[in-house]
Amino acid sequence: MSRIVYLNGAYVPEEQAKISIFDRGFIFGDGVYEATSVIDRTLIDVRAHLARLERSCAEISLSLPWSSADLIEIHHELIRRNNLNEGSIYLQVTRGAADREFPFPKQVKPTLVLFTQARSLLDSPAAKTGIKVVSAPDLRWARRDIKSVNLLASVLAKQLAAEKGAQEAWMLEDDVITEGGSSTAWIVKNRTLISRPLSEKVLPGITRASVLAFIAESGFAFDQRTFTLTEALAADEAFITSATNLVMPVVSIDGRMIGKGVPGTTAVRLRELYIGFARKGGALG
Ligand code: PDD
Repeated sequence: MSRIVYLNGAYVPEEQAKISIFDRGFIFGDGVYEATSVIDRTLIDVRAHLARLERSCAEISLSLPWSSADLIEIHHELIRRNNLNEGSIYLQVTRGAADREFPFPKQVKPTLVLFTQARSLLDSPAAKTGIKVVSAPDLRWARRDIKSVNLLASVLAKQLAAEKGAQEAWMLEDDVITEGGSSTAWIVKNRTLISRPLSEKVLPGITRASVLAFIAESGFAFDQRTFTLTEALAADEAFITSATNLVMPVVSIDGRMIGKGVPGTTAVRLRELYIGFARKGGALG
């Protein structure tokens, strides 16, 4: 049975959802996106995802003619129509279809697409074994805080990881790790969680914010600073966070074992805590 997807006001079977070859998302990568996870038919931190979407749109002067309430309703309708129990919902908005000229076209309606992806988030085999990471140069543009659909550099980094039998690439710039190809990078040293501060160099991860919202009261120390690859290799633990990975332990980087080469106790505990909040819709309210 094919999925029901949302395209510009209509719920249609995926085979019938067609967009123009002139869509600026296709031609220029002129668009932004969000991916929100679903657990037990509940959207996780959806308000924070939609606030980030609004910010991404504002940063590229793309008008978003749908309110957060409209967008949440579309998410819920897709969960209902696809009977989605667990997985994620992808949302993309582009500057619409117009003849190929670089400046913004006038009076063009944005294109809005949403679709579901059913997958196991809680019972992920990777969470039991931990994942492998490889390092790769960060070849992305200078505004990585905008969740743009220009993902070629991330595609190449994650393809390199896949070819090396790893599940994520940690991208490097000026000797420090920026973030994962599609996740936030963390290490743990002497019981302190370390993740870099937010800036234009990284995407402000919603899962990161969610973890930060509960770690203080759970007794974890947090040091917000950059870290190098050398430091990561010598860390006690490493892990990533993202909407679809939740909290995912990392057991090796570039083939070198982190800690004992098995999921660390901190990462495992944070995953449990995160899932507890996620089941109630997230830690961000
Ligand atoms: N990626 N950094 C990058 C570059 C990302 O693409 C993502 C998310 C994150 C984590 O953000 P969040 O916790 O809000 O999911 C960090 C999504 C999942 C994707 O591209 O599919």
